[in-house]
Amino acid sequence: MIYSLCYVSTKRKNLTPSEVRSIIDYSNKKNSFDNITGILIEYKNNFIQYLEGDAIRIYELFEKIKSDPRHQKVSLLQYSPIEERLFEGWSMSHRDLDIMIEKDDQLLECAKSLDDVILNKSFWNGIKTIEVLSNLN
Ligand SMILES: Cc1cc2nc3c(=O)[nH]c(=O)nc-3n(C[C@H](O)[C@H](O)[C@H](O)COP(=O)(O)O)c2cc1C
Repeated sequence: MIYSLCYVSTKRKNLTPSEVRSIIDYSNKKNSFDNITGILIEYKNNFIQYLEGDAIRIYELFEKIKSDPRHQKVSLLQYSPIEERLFEGWSMSHRDLDIMIEKDDQLLECAKSLDDVILNKSFWNGIKTIEVLSNLN
């Protein structure tokens, strides 16, 4: 059964772009081996990660991610079965939403939803946002 898992966290203070790069590189290799797909979004001081794959595998991965010192205040937003993957072919896509917003006004709407997600106000708006993001290349 394929599950999806989504959490939001706060980046460790002073986390450098090259440290983020190494998370992405590592995740790409590891996730493609484990048949896990998804996206890691950087937004302000936060990470929002959406993972999809085998139910147990992504939960085990989440347990590791939760205790990773490169971020804190990891809060699980969702863990539930899905019919099909949103990020087929993406072992770990990466977006820096702050940069994307500068280039594309439409994304401001997405950003508002993400603010809600981060404040845990509206999870479903966040999922809509993730669907929008999955259509971007
Ligand atoms: C924000 C964030 C996202 C991460 N995402 C992944 C991921 O998608 N896949 C992965 O294997 N590790 C990811 N990691 C790294 C894990 O926390 C951990 O370092 C790694 O899974 C260690 O794997 P190993 O014990 O199997 O070597 C992430 C770390 C952070 C801080």
